[in-house]
Amino acid sequence: MLTEEKITARLNVARSSVEKKLARTPDLGVILGSGLGKFVENMTERTIIPYEDIPGFPLPTAPGHKGNLALGNCGPKYAMVMQGRLHYYEGYDMEEVTFPARLMEVLGVKKLIVTNAAGGINESYKPGQLVIMRDHINLLGVNPLRGRNLDFLGPRFPDMTYAYDKNWRAEALAVLKEMGRQGQEGVYAAVPGPSFETPAEIRYLRAIGADLVGMSTVPEVIVANHGGMKVLGISCVTNMAAGVLERKLTMEEVLETSARAAGDLYALLSAVLARPDGGAAEH
Ligand code: HPA
Repeated sequence: MLTEEKITARLNVARSSVEKKLARTPDLGVILGSGLGKFVENMTERTIIPYEDIPGFPLPTAPGHKGNLALGNCGPKYAMVMQGRLHYYEGYDMEEVTFPARLMEVLGVKKLIVTNAAGGINESYKPGQLVIMRDHINLLGVNPLRGRNLDFLGPRFPDMTYAYDKNWRAEALAVLKEMGRQGQEGVYAAVPGPSFETPAEIRYLRAIGADLVGMSTVPEVIVANHGGMKVLGISCVTNMAAGVLERKLTMEEVLETSARAAGDLYALLSAVLARPDGGAAEH
């Protein structure tokens, strides 16, 4: 675990390097999940900064993850978009996994959209479908806030009742329906990976109330809530979870399906960002 001084110093150098490239404080941040990185192509007047050019920034190694920070306009909004995230299964510490969300926080970002590829536990879901995250269950075995609290970043015991902003969720669901898609919400269970789950683990996850399973997102959401941000979470169901269908799971299938569903995700993001208040009114 990094010490308070180290994490603060690391955030400060990264902040000053990114700050110079910002046109203004971003209206929001976006973290793009596996195979969903092409959203940045929709951004105008964009500046792409490879993570390796940001001092202090950890580098992702996962397939389908590029490792760029994109700054630019998404319709009427000025956004800070992470093309490629860091996963716990890659061996990173939680400080590293949540570094992008922290960097957004110290740059003044107040709203965050997180996206991910997820396995569908709820049998009413179909591969390729987008599901709005209603809540999560953290089964990573760690909490990114463990350790001495960094008071300048947020409170010791942050509330998680509204981890996923209610109004923003309702807006996203309305947009999905306007797009002629099924507007469904779900509870996302975060597991460490990198092995996929066993069918017995999926039955367990279903029994405890999970609709979706994935290996990411929850650390960033906890940190974003700690930092007082409003969060919208969008899962792309890339496969039915282990044992739901009589077949094996592969990362190729995950990436193939997310590439197929990416168009819908980009349309949803663009429509949500085009809303006058940018989503996320008060609770
Ligand atoms: N399990 C865990 N993570 C995932 C899955 C899954 O089935 N699909 C995409 N990410």
